[in-house]
Amino acid sequence: MERSITIRVDGAEHEVTVDTRTTLLDALRERIGNTSPKKGCDHGQCGSCTVLLDGRRQLSCLALAVAHDGAEIVTAAGLGDGDLHPVQQAFITHDGFQCGYCTPGQVCSVVGMLAEAEDGHPSHVTEDLGAETELSDAEIRERLSGNLCRCGAYVGILDAVKEVTGR
Ligand code: FES
Ligand code: FES
Repeated sequence: MERSITIRVDGAEHEVTVDTRTTLLDALRERIGNTSPKKGCDHGQCGSCTVLLDGRRQLSCLALAVAHDGAEIVTAAGLGDGDLHPVQQAFITHDGFQCGYCTPGQVCSVVGMLAEAEDGHPSHVTEDLGAETELSDAEIRERLSGNLCRCGAYVGILDAVKEVTGR
């Protein structure tokens, strides 16, 4: 069964007809031609497909495209408005990547995570639930633990996030 949906991706509107079983990741990559989100595991384990969906980070391999008709999607390629987003620049400054396969997902995840922390969302390691969230090393590691990096660029990624948060 097929359905027509309209989604905005990195500021451009796309109308696509998709099988109702098509994931958002496949719609982005195969139908719209946006290869910024990567297919690592295709079942929610690696984070390389992370995009911002209506402002929140989302594993696009676990979302059905048809369920997001009318959504606003931002991939790492659309983050900086034609320039590098501060998080992308910090990744470069601190060697937060090697092969780069996980990087678009990591960058989107960091942007989403910073917004979540600012909104007061706790993580698994947050101790003082009522207080303003201090993005300690442990908080950053926990909040980004859904994004795996086979090259092991975690130290650089941590430093990049610390720079963006002013630490
Ligand atoms: S490809 Fe989506 S989590 Fe791995
Ligand atoms: S930079 Fe290679 S997988 Fe992360």
